[in-house]
Amino acid sequence: MHAALGAAATVLNVGAGAGSYEPDGRDVLAVEPSATMLCQRPPGSAPAVCAVAEHLPCADHRFDAALAVLTVHHWRDPATGLAELRRVSRRQVVFTWDVEVMARYWLVGEYLPEIAERERGLANLDAVVRGLSGPDRRVVVKPVPVPWDCSDGFLAAYWRRPQLPGRRRAGGHVRRGGAAVGRGATRSAETGRRPQLRQVAARPPRPPGPGFTGRRLPPGGRD
Ligand SMILES: C[S@@+](CC[C@H](N)C(=O)[O-])C[C@H]1O[C@@H](n2cnc3c(N)ncnc32)[C@H](O)[C@@H]1O
Repeated sequence: MHAALGAAATVLNVGAGAGSYEPDGRDVLAVEPSATMLCQRPPGSAPAVCAVAEHLPCADHRFDAALAVLTVHHWRDPATGLAELRRVSRRQVVFTWDVEVMARYWLVGEYLPEIAERERGLANLDAVVRGLSGPDRRVVVKPVPVPWDCSDGFLAAYWRRPQLPGRRRAGGHVRRGGAAVGRGATRSAETGRRPQLRQVAARPPRPPGPGFTGRRLPPGGRD
C-alpha cells in the first residue's frame, strides 16, 4: 500500500473504518459514514469526518492520493464514489479482490460456491478498474498475495489453515462480503452432498494453482 501511495504526502482514506490499514508517516484525513466505526478509531488516529464516498466534502485535487481499502463494495453507488476519488485526488489506491480468484480458492470453489456467486454481484476488481479508467488515465492492477499465516481474519487468509474458519465461527457459519453461507446451505461441487465445515477442516489444502504468485514455503514452514 505504501508503494502504491508513492510520494503522496496528503492522503484521503475513504471508508476508513476504525483505521486498521491507515498509512502512517503521511498527512491523512479519514472519511467514514458509520458513527460506530468512528468511535472505534484509537486515540491518536488521523482526524476523521463523517461522510460518504459518493459525496466527499473536499475541493477538487485537494489530496495527493485517495485510498479505499476493502470498502468500495459497501458503497451505495460505487461508480459515483470512484468518480469522487478521482475528483479530489491526483492518484487513487484501491485495495479490493478479484472474485474469479476467490472462486478458485478451494474452500469457495469446492465447498461454498455461493460465496463467489454472491460476490459477482458486488463491486470488486472489475468495477474498480472501470470506475478509475479514462482516456487519459492508466490503471495498474497489482496482485497482493495473502501470506499463509496472515493474522487478519478474512476468509482467504485461511487458504493454508483449513482447520481455523470452522473453529472460529461457532455454528459452522462462514461470513464474507455480506454473504452468509450456513451449514447445509450449499452442496459440494464434487459430491453433490452438503458440506460440513469439520469435513472441510479435515482435508489437507491443495497446493497453490498456476495463478499463484506468492512465495512457496516448505510443508509446515514459517517465515
Ligand atoms: C470492511 S470496512 C473497511 C474499513 C477499513 N477501510 C479497513 O480496511 O479496515 C468497510 C467500511 O466502509 C464503510 N462504508 C460503507 N458505505 C460507505 C460509503 N458509501 N462511503 C464510504 N464508506 C462507506 C463502512 O462504514 C466500513 O467502515
